[in-house]
Amino acid sequence: MSGRGSVPDRSRVHIFDTTLRDGEQSPGISLNAQEKVEIAQQLERLGVDVIEAGFPITSPGDAESVRAIARAVEGPVICGLARTHKADIDAAWAAIKESARPRIHTFISTSDIHIEHQLQTTRDDVKGQARAAVALAKSYCDDVEFSPMDATRADPEFTAEVCAIAVAEGATVVNIPDTVGYTTPEEYRRYFERLFELVPELRGVHTSVHCHDDLGLAVANSYAGVLAGARQVECAVNGIGERAGNCSLEEIVMLLRTRTDVHGLDTGLDTRELARTSRMVSRFTGYVVQPNKAVVGRNAFAHESGIHQDGVLKERTTYEIMDARDVGLDSNSIVLGKHSGRHALRDALEQLGFKVEGNALNQAFARFKEIADKKKQITALDLEAIVSEEMRESAERYALESFEVEAGSHRAPRARVALRVPSGEEVVAEASGDGPVDAIFVAIREATGTDSELRSYSVAAVTAGEDALGEVTVTLRAHGRLASGQGVATDILEASARAYVRALSNALEGAAVREAEEVAAEAASEPATPGP
Ligand code: KIV
Ligand code: ZN
Repeated sequence: MSGRGSVPDRSRVHIFDTTLRDGEQSPGISLNAQEKVEIAQQLERLGVDVIEAGFPITSPGDAESVRAIARAVEGPVICGLARTHKADIDAAWAAIKESARPRIHTFISTSDIHIEHQLQTTRDDVKGQARAAVALAKSYCDDVEFSPMDATRADPEFTAEVCAIAVAEGATVVNIPDTVGYTTPEEYRRYFERLFELVPELRGVHTSVHCHDDLGLAVANSYAGVLAGARQVECAVNGIGERAGNCSLEEIVMLLRTRTDVHGLDTGLDTRELARTSRMVSRFTGYVVQPNKAVVGRNAFAHESGIHQDGVLKERTTYEIMDARDVGLDSNSIVLGKHSGRHALRDALEQLGFKVEGNALNQAFARFKEIADKKKQITALDLEAIVSEEMRESAERYALESFEVEAGSHRAPRARVALRVPSGEEVVAEASGDGPVDAIFVAIREATGTDSELRSYSVAAVTAGEDALGEVTVTLRAHGRLASGQGVATDILEASARAYVRALSNALEGAAVREAEEVAAEAASEPATPGP
């Protein structure tokens, strides 16, 4: 998507991914810079048009991650979010300016409910702020997106006036957010039609949809906006985002691909990367994908009823409207065996899109060997799970050295864990619990001296089969932060211990980053020391 003057290709719907911005605003998600870059690189492989990499004014950490993505990712437009304040726009520009294709996305509410209660200002002031913000953003960057926040609850006439101002100041994209997930497909479609009537200049720029899922309508509403003429969809992998989340990227993309017969539209995505992208985002965020999730859920292509199985065996299309291969859910081919060496591992990882060298490769290899001793065949899915876990290194970390559990029907479960703590010391602790997993968690809490509180725990098999790897996801509150962690092992007790320790490390790292930011903010607000 380029600046004004280009003729939009009306059959191509652009995918604007906001997993790293709106998605990251979901409770309990705290990705570090390395994880954000990994996700952005996977989004590039998937072929999204725009990556909204963050909201740089919100913290130095966020600004730094956006800057790292702008440097590391070449294909997609890299976008930074900004309110209409000058400081926000300056911060967004500073973070994205090294991208080959930077975009500033600025927004202000047009609904009276927001203007009166949140902004505590007037409609005239909103118009002035929108005008100044787009003009300032445009002075930095040719590609500027404007969003009238809460548009679907706002007066369409007033929203149209504000959008007209944004276009007059040079906005290249106008996005109409359904911020609180309130609209319906028919209403959203009519809203767009009314805006096009009131502001014919909108036909000369790109228009965009941004829908939240509070009523479960985010995909349906986004689709309605596209049918009304919008050609950019803002969405997030696995539908993560504020509250009930955003429009799910994989669902809208496959809806457009599968029903191109009715609308003649498509995206430019390599849909075979969808499942892998979904798994990566799920692992890094700790947001587990429900088994029956459309397109990427474990059961999205599974047939339970005999009649359905019989039909699919005779002809796949009897009960399948998409092909699992087209979304990348067929990647379970065996890639390595017990005797595979370091080079074979590096090549296999490269095929999976992971560039792992040096110490990281040594670590991944050690872990691979450990698992290959217990599991005959290591598949692509196994490798992906192992490497994703290994790559979630945090600077401040605890590491699991060993654990033992005693349990049985006539004795209370008891666990002993040995951990390496951030000071480098090894600490051992023992504890009993309600079950073996609980005993391990209590022992880890004792060893680390943390007062962590478990918020959620889930376990899933990475592949089918009796020797499948178990993958555990833990979300907990520790060090004043909500954080999640994954653990992968042939034994689910080990996977649980790894997941808990990883989540604690992530909480500790998040707390350290926040502390450093607070110190920096305090230092910046202190009056300058007078010179000699
Ligand atoms: O939901 C919303 O309105 C937003 C805007 C910042 C586009 O996320
Ligand atoms: Zn949003």
